[in-house]
Amino acid sequence: MSAPVPFLDLRQPTAALRGQIDGAIARVLDRGLYLLGPELEAFESEFASWCGARHCAGVASGFSALQLIVRACGIGPGDEVIVPGNTHIATWLAVTSAGARPVPVDPDAATRVITAAGAESAITPRTRAVFAVHLYGMPCDLKGLSELCRGRGLRLLVDAAQSAGAEIDGSRNLCHGDAAAYSFYPTKNLGALGDGGAVVTDDPEIDGAVRLLRNYGMRHFADHPMRGVNARMEEIHAAVLREKLVLLDEWNARRAALARRYMGRLEGMPGVAGPEVPGWAGHAWHLFVVEVEDRDLIRRRLDAEGIGTAVHYPLPPHRTAALETVGPFPPLPITDRLSRRVLSLPMNPFLSDAQADRVMDALAGALGKVGG
Ligand SMILES: Cc1ncc(COP(=O)(O)O)c(C=O)c1O
Repeated sequence: MSAPVPFLDLRQPTAALRGQIDGAIARVLDRGLYLLGPELEAFESEFASWCGARHCAGVASGFSALQLIVRACGIGPGDEVIVPGNTHIATWLAVTSAGARPVPVDPDAATRVITAAGAESAITPRTRAVFAVHLYGMPCDLKGLSELCRGRGLRLLVDAAQSAGAEIDGSRNLCHGDAAAYSFYPTKNLGALGDGGAVVTDDPEIDGAVRLLRNYGMRHFADHPMRGVNARMEEIHAAVLREKLVLLDEWNARRAALARRYMGRLEGMPGVAGPEVPGWAGHAWHLFVVEVEDRDLIRRRLDAEGIGTAVHYPLPPHRTAALETVGPFPPLPITDRLSRRVLSLPMNPFLSDAQADRVMDALAGALGKVGG
């Protein structure tokens, strides 16, 4: 058997930048300032500019970013927030942790993200916001969704945890709605050496509220206008993220090239559906997700060939013990079907063309065997 193709090897991005990372950590150690210092300030301004947005506030994790935009928008008990059925549980938990109720809608079956029509069908007098999740790096149609939200007086919040680099009509900033939550979890397109996140917005009020909330609601010492939390990004993470941000465009371009290579091979391969990307959408290719019948069998066959895979996600939030009591929920047939069929193939900037071809050869072989 040829060499295995891991789903992801997080030593690779670190090795590619080892000198810069060592230097970034040394800067912080030598300065002796570990929180809310110059590395965070610089990262915020560099990431805002990379995103084409006015403001960025670094926070402790993607989940903190989600929670803080919900709080900054004043959403709380008695309010409803429309969420996709198929998302990481964090999107729903950000809503429930504010005391509000997540109201799920199915995504579009082809793009696997929610649409304005889907969101509209779930609006009630209690709806305060729509949470768009650019799942796998595929942007939702925020033009349609912002028109809907503006017309109904709703906030448009974005879970951008998986979509660093996504574009709508060639613009990164069109992907942000009223405010977007990024995650720098180590596996993400821009990954820290631990937890990290950011809120990106053009709205100075949301930015100001997030900055207070992340640090105990404290404006100055002994001046606490809001009940905040501790959700600060550490200087070491900010310093390392600054070094990685320099390479992010190059890394994302490599992801896009691999996605094109995969898509070319999927054309005409029976028994598998690849991602569908409309012309206006710039996919960030955080994950490359196909759909197959007998997903678990195909996964085992790929594993036997040394191909690492993952499933995002096998259990949708409405079926978890933690959240099933938040219902009743409407039927979510597309979400349920996706949870049985989705399979994430290796997708990262360090995958070679030869490895990508090996993944596709193994997939074709695994699918061929299922029928026979
Ligand atoms: C769609 C989505 N939302 C939210 C999160 C939470 O981010 P974090 O792990 O940084 O808290 C993640 C992933 O980890 C995610 O994939």
